[in-house]
Amino acid sequence: HGSKLVLGIETSCDETGAAVVSVDGRILGEALASQAELHAQWGGVVPKLAQGAHEDAIDSVVQCALTTEGGGRIDPSDLAAIAVTIGPGLSLCLKVGIRKARALAREHNLPVIPIHHMEAHGLVARLCEWELHFPFLTLLISGGHNLLLLAHGVGHYTQLGTSLDDAVGEAYDKTARLLGLELGRGGGPALEEVAREGDPYSFNFSVPMRKFKNCNFSYAGLKTAVRLAIDAACPGAETRPISAATSAERKIRADIAASFQRIAVLHLEERTRRAIEWARNIDPAVDCLVVAGGVAANQVVRHRLEGVVREGSPNREAADGGVMRIAFPSPRLCTDNGVMVAWAGVERYRLGLMDPPPPPVTSTVED
Ligand code: KG4
Ligand code: ZN
Repeated sequence: HGSKLVLGIETSCDETGAAVVSVDGRILGEALASQAELHAQWGGVVPKLAQGAHEDAIDSVVQCALTTEGGGRIDPSDLAAIAVTIGPGLSLCLKVGIRKARALAREHNLPVIPIHHMEAHGLVARLCEWELHFPFLTLLISGGHNLLLLAHGVGHYTQLGTSLDDAVGEAYDKTARLLGLELGRGGGPALEEVAREGDPYSFNFSVPMRKFKNCNFSYAGLKTAVRLAIDAACPGAETRPISAATSAERKIRADIAASFQRIAVLHLEERTRRAIEWARNIDPAVDCLVVAGGVAANQVVRHRLEGVVREGSPNREAADGGVMRIAFPSPRLCTDNGVMVAWAGVERYRLGLMDPPPPPVTSTVED
């Protein structure tokens, strides 16, 4: 039934998100409370502070998601199910969302749909692109994980590659901090912006993992190389905000940002190019690359990966008539949000993959 509704709740990291999505893919209500400002002062997400911020925000974020654009109220008892992120993420933070989902489910006798955060990042592309069918290849690039997965179906993936150390988003965040950028909207967006003023060929960082002919990722070496370059070219940049830098120093920082970004993205391009080959050897029906997760909001990332897919297509066309497409969720659905969790819930609901309503409360002490 197209008008059935799923509420999604996301609290795995530093965004409190909730949304109501219908089984036929309409977003009825959504809300997001970001903690980026809070964590900017500490140079990273502090789990205990994040938990407190989720607890402060969760009730109003869910209330707000249950309010439609026109101001109408969605009665929780009209929901078909409640989807909630159960991992991966910070356990203190995940618990806030899970507790809220279970309480609502118990009160309104609704099933709970447990959601894997990274799967939600990838699946939301199917909400944005109606004609996106399995199997497809997906590159998931966020703050915590990098993954290259061959998606056969909901809950059914072959892992082609993963991050061996830092994820790409983490490398963006750390580099932004070392460069003294304004972190109020997050390190990734700040670095992307400053990099536009820089020369991406000014510093020569090496591309990670070239001798390993696989699809795994490593950003720890690049992070160290960037730190050494900063120590040499603009020591102490971290302690002097870029807004206070001279124009000459601003240019150096922008050059480092642009050079870091060129290599960080080149690593994504190389691994993805290989993964396209691997995926099509496993299943020749793979005809789409989905790029999702917070870093997929980046315009350089989007543009460069479009190039990878375009360069591969003419040969494939000659070989078997298959042309590779690329799909990105809209940028606001790439970074953590409630819509992706609600949509992943819809995908599972349609397949009957959910837990029955939680039992009545037998104790008043919650874990
Ligand atoms: O998916 P996400 O919101 O949360 C996790 O699951 O980790 O991804 C957050 C990551 C952060 O590291 C953030 O800096 C990065 O995505 N990010 C970006 C951009 N927007 C967010 N990185 C580069 N360019 C961006 N425009
Ligand atoms: Zn995420």
